[in-house]
Amino acid sequence: QIRTIMFEKEILRLKSERNAIILAHNYQPGDVQDIADLTGDSLELSRAAATIDCKVLVFCGVDFMAETAAILSPEKIVIHPDTSACCPMAQMISPHDVRSLREKHPDAAVVCYVNSSADVKAESDICCTSANGVQVVNALDADEILFIPDRNLAAYVARHTDKRIIPWDGYCYVHDRYTASDVSEARKKHPDAELLVHPECRPEVIDMADGVYSTSGMLKHARASGANEFIIGTEVGILHRLCAENPEKMFYPLSSGAVCEDMKKISLKKVLRALETLSPRVEVPQTTAVRARRAIERMLAV
Ligand code: 13P
Ligand code: SF4
Repeated sequence: QIRTIMFEKEILRLKSERNAIILAHNYQPGDVQDIADLTGDSLELSRAAATIDCKVLVFCGVDFMAETAAILSPEKIVIHPDTSACCPMAQMISPHDVRSLREKHPDAAVVCYVNSSADVKAESDICCTSANGVQVVNALDADEILFIPDRNLAAYVARHTDKRIIPWDGYCYVHDRYTASDVSEARKKHPDAELLVHPECRPEVIDMADGVYSTSGMLKHARASGANEFIIGTEVGILHRLCAENPEKMFYPLSSGAVCEDMKKISLKKVLRALETLSPRVEVPQTTAVRARRAIERMLAV
């Protein structure tokens, strides 16, 4: 506890000395979320990275999120406190895979979930997040969509569009693990609770849910809903904010094993070290960054 208070004090001091802003994803450890200037989902954090006025951005999340911030804010120093914090789904497709897909489907548009590398974004027409996937796809002229890399988000989007969605076979190991029997068990234990799930879940889990939301979409829904109990089908880090913002409501994880190991690699100690040394810096090669930025900015304009 004393160590945490010391870290927090020093982080606050260095933050103002360096003109730094700390952005944290909703899955970050609770103490990291608590010292952040803004906690949000991928879309909110991208928007913030593009518009917030500061010299240094400390990005607490996984690699593709910090990379997106660096692409959108080339004039800022973007630091990622632990560069080994990666999203495995982002590694499930390569730029070469995207080029091969395009050869096979020359009339299709490529919609790339932000959980992807900068190289893959650079090969894509437009990005999307879990919050705006349906909107992005429906805003395009093309009738055929190559949706990469998440097969489950692709299946979810396909339910809400008339376009032909051709999915890539990537997935998130945290969300893809939930099964229909996890849902039945949780429903039995908490019969009055609403079930909220992330669109990275499998179709059979989506079928059983009361609502499908991005992480910040869940926060918004939980605040507004008249329900008092919720089963949460996404990474457990989100419970920190859900409980803090709704002290009178109850939240149960769909599975307590839903932990994204990489999200938990960031700690207060690493944030402090990053602010002291202004490293590790996230730098995306200019040629890739320019092309990837086009796809991200097209999304932000939708
Ligand atoms: P959100 O954009 O909904 O926060 O999701 C990011 C993510 O990595 C989900 O696993
Ligand atoms: Fe990637 Fe899944 Fe972790 Fe999100 S929860 S960052 S999709 S591994």
